[in-house]
Amino acid sequence: MCGIVGYTGNRQVTEVLLQGIRRLEYRGYDSAGIALLEDGNFRVIKSVGKVAGLVEKVGQNGHGSPGIKTGIAHTRWATHGAPTEANAHPHLDSQNNFAVVHNGIIENYSVLRDRLIKKGHKFLSETDSEVIPHLIQEFYQNDFASAVIQALQQIEGTYGIVVSSKNHPGQLIAARKGSPIVIGVGENEMIVASDIMAIVSYTAKVIYLNDGDVALINPNNVEIRNIHNVPVSRGTSTIDWDIRLVEKGGFEHFMLKEIHEQPESITNAVRGRLDHANGTAILSGLNMQPQDLVAIDRIIIAACGTSLHAGMIGKYYFEELAGILTEVEQAAEFRYRNPIVGVNTLALAISQSGETADTLAAIKEAKMKGAQVAAICNVVGSTIARETERGVYIHAGPEISVASTKAFTSQVAVLLMMALKLARSRRFTQQEGIILSNEIEMIPELIQKVIDRSKEIEKIAKKWSGAKDFFFIGRGYLYPAALEGALKLKEISYIHAEGYHAAELKHGPIALLDPSVPVVALANDVLGKDKTISNIQECKARKSPVIVTATEGDEGMKQLTDDVLWIPRTSKYLAPLPTVVALQLLAYYIAKERGCPIDHPRNLAKSVTVE
Ligand code: BG6
Repeated sequence: MCGIVGYTGNRQVTEVLLQGIRRLEYRGYDSAGIALLEDGNFRVIKSVGKVAGLVEKVGQNGHGSPGIKTGIAHTRWATHGAPTEANAHPHLDSQNNFAVVHNGIIENYSVLRDRLIKKGHKFLSETDSEVIPHLIQEFYQNDFASAVIQALQQIEGTYGIVVSSKNHPGQLIAARKGSPIVIGVGENEMIVASDIMAIVSYTAKVIYLNDGDVALINPNNVEIRNIHNVPVSRGTSTIDWDIRLVEKGGFEHFMLKEIHEQPESITNAVRGRLDHANGTAILSGLNMQPQDLVAIDRIIIAACGTSLHAGMIGKYYFEELAGILTEVEQAAEFRYRNPIVGVNTLALAISQSGETADTLAAIKEAKMKGAQVAAICNVVGSTIARETERGVYIHAGPEISVASTKAFTSQVAVLLMMALKLARSRRFTQQEGIILSNEIEMIPELIQKVIDRSKEIEKIAKKWSGAKDFFFIGRGYLYPAALEGALKLKEISYIHAEGYHAAELKHGPIALLDPSVPVVALANDVLGKDKTISNIQECKARKSPVIVTATEGDEGMKQLTDDVLWIPRTSKYLAPLPTVVALQLLAYYIAKERGCPIDHPRNLAKSVTVE
């Protein structure tokens, strides 16, 4: 999941390209590179590590002559070959005619590479991507597009690419199969990138490429063909994100900014979607008539990472509120398990980015087997959203920090609204619907109350920031919340943290408890609290320090421990939302105390577009 950018137009090319890959850095940040077509030749600058290193190097080397009109750039998440300068993109062919940046994995690269080496091609890197410029060189007979298309016809695997050619100054070619590509249409300029983050500063008018598309891009027009070199047409869309949303806005980290944005992002997710009079939800994007809703006899949720934890809470909502049998599947497992689905099965993908490869493949599998499909996504126009053609956008705005926060709470709010709609189409009375719809309206305020306690949470975080291991335990709706709390801590502080169902401790994990292993017990005053308190006693008996989440006013909890994360009183349905926000802040302040690179944790990326 690399980030790629290409530009052709009259602006300062290096500025556009470096700003672009800086905005895409959450996709990968172990090395970066740029290629500029200057005076008929490519000037290539690469560096290992963050984009900032490349910016410095370009500064030392000079941004090049004002005549430069075209360039491409890349920020990498290594799949083939270690993060070295040689393996950084862009890659060129032996005669330096073509420069290529690639996001994806070429599965048959070693066969292609061996064939090209036999023909005299010299390879400078260990990457799979380097075969692309060499293949283009092989097929090139003065027709740029045909050479690229013939090269791509040889490739098995996934790609999002941008190609520049010294024989065709001012022109770029972009193509996609499995990895996202979007083209920003400006006034006599075009910017092509892996996603809209790199484009929002220049234009709101974009073209999303579909799998198999190849785009010939000039400063004032784009021509699209399919992989058989036949022209195809693609519409333009408008981005509704403004530039301020992709800046830190005075916060030290995007993660803290996004945690603080949750009252607003949930308000956006709920706006215009609650019909309080009838006690139901209006989710027009689902595009399902009452008879379609009633026909659903099973729901399968497919997702990865934080979205999977949101899905687990969704399962409780769909089963308890709407009485629909629901399974939550780790997407990569679902796609290879030859699952059983029926025509009245709703397969629901949950994905912030809408690009996670395993989730996309899982939904394609369910579709192939005749299931109804839908998605809950944040990124408008993303591949999963276009694949399912129905669903709910969470409208959380751009989520830049690799660890997902505001997308999670908005996904859970949308799942609760979906459950309300399904419940009203079955067994919920109007009154019951009205009560739940009023509760949903309260979520932003409840979350703000937790954010207002940041100082208290920071104090507890500092106290335990030296621990090497952490346990998180919860029951019912708070069990997935415990899993999410552990994931947040793992992702950004590099502390080994495990989330467990509180009852599961006795069946093994309790063996790991001792005075050096803090346990975060989610003991809000909802169903399961008493049992969780017994589990807390078991942990204390093993001298493990205990941090609890407790409902405001539940003073008795102070007897159990000094470290209480106070949560506003809620029903069990809403309990995971403010609770997870407290755990997001706990993880954030622990990672901050440990001096961790919170927005770009090692080895991670914001969306995993390869298997
Ligand atoms: C990981 C991200 O790569 O993918 C996580 O680091 C995220 O934050 C997971 O939860 C799933 O991503 P998505 O976009 O499908 O929700």
